[in-house]
Amino acid sequence: MTRTTLVTGGAGYIGSHTCVELIEAGQRVVVVDNLCNSKPEALLGVERITGERPELVIADLCDLPALQDVFERHRPDDVIHFAGLKAVGESVKAPLRYYRNNVGATINLLEAMTQAGVTNLVFSSSCTVYGVPKTLPIDEGAPTGDTSNPYGHTKYIIERLLIELQSCKPDWNISILRYFNPVGAHPSGEIGEDPNGIPENLMPYVCQVAAGKRERLRVWGDDYPTRDGTGVRDYLHVCDLARGHLAALDKLRSGAGLMIHNLGTGRGYSVLEVVAAFAGASGRDIPYDIMPRRPGDIAETWADAGRAERELGWRAERGLDEMCRDAWRWQQRHPQGY
Ligand code: NAD
Ligand code: WQD
Repeated sequence: MTRTTLVTGGAGYIGSHTCVELIEAGQRVVVVDNLCNSKPEALLGVERITGERPELVIADLCDLPALQDVFERHRPDDVIHFAGLKAVGESVKAPLRYYRNNVGATINLLEAMTQAGVTNLVFSSSCTVYGVPKTLPIDEGAPTGDTSNPYGHTKYIIERLLIELQSCKPDWNISILRYFNPVGAHPSGEIGEDPNGIPENLMPYVCQVAAGKRERLRVWGDDYPTRDGTGVRDYLHVCDLARGHLAALDKLRSGAGLMIHNLGTGRGYSVLEVVAAFAGASGRDIPYDIMPRRPGDIAETWADAGRAERELGWRAERGLDEMCRDAWRWQQRHPQGY
């Protein structure tokens, strides 16, 4: 029987790529999104890839009656919860907005699920919950909570909330996925990351420098104790990440209870390594200046992704060159975004 998955934030970057994987796996997809950081055109891109456009309900998760209505009308079997605000710098300026929109909205979602009797949930968490790593690679048993900004705290608080809910209500099946640094785009070039204004994150910024939209990359610090002094991160291809959600859903449906998994490649690259890979993939120069460190940044992090492989049968398959190539294809096909 065809299952219906409700995808909150499904018009966004990771959500739209996950819609593709869900549809290609034969599932029905309903997206609920208030489009505060996305455009409905992303779902047209999903349709161009898969031949099917997910139904879009434009609603805010902070609006409980609207959310209840979505559950009544669409009767989903499972939920993947991407909706949230994610800009670290903005969260420092507007912490309450982040708490309301991320924590408050999640409580609404859990209430609506409870009323509708839906108990399978995949949640987008982040490696940010680990704060400054004490040992590398980081596995899921590492301490969490010592995060440096309100965005990171909202992820940690939602994790605690979900862990508590599942322990009080063991019939719930909840998957917490801690993403490392998702980058790249669907290889078709039909969907990709479409940041508003000046990108905060490395890969979209590099893309715009390669395209001539921005003059030079600012490299935040070259005096970290890393192999070339620049920050090291575990970048993973967004399509690999999207597949991870299907693997988690499959496991949840077998009655998994609570699961926590890192989703990363297990390998770190420095800022300068990313710049070199992108220059190679695009054939363009990426001029850059070394700047002081960005407040709140850590020197390096990468995942121990072994648990996801053992328990979900998932591993990242695409390397850095492919991430850069696909990000560049998206940039060239959609120079102004959607
Ligand atoms: P995104 O901004 O592209 O997607 C989030 C979507 O949620 C957007 O379409 C936005 O319009 C929607 N949304 C936000 N608040 C909403 C609300 N109250 N009601 C309805 N819709 C709402 O972000 P993304 O990169 O696709 O991230 C998806 C999730 O993954 C987020 O929860 C993010 O915190 C988490 N995450 C992202 C990264 C990353 O680097 N991109 C890393 C770790 C975790
Ligand atoms: C990567 C590296 C920067 C931009 C953020 C969030 C985290 C998670 C993923 C959601 C760092 C350097 C960057 C630039 C640079 N998101 N950099 N010049 O900081 O690892 O993580 O996104 O959960 O919570 O904090 O990603 O892409 O911003 O930075 O030199 O213009 O690139 O200093 O070393 P980050 P990023």
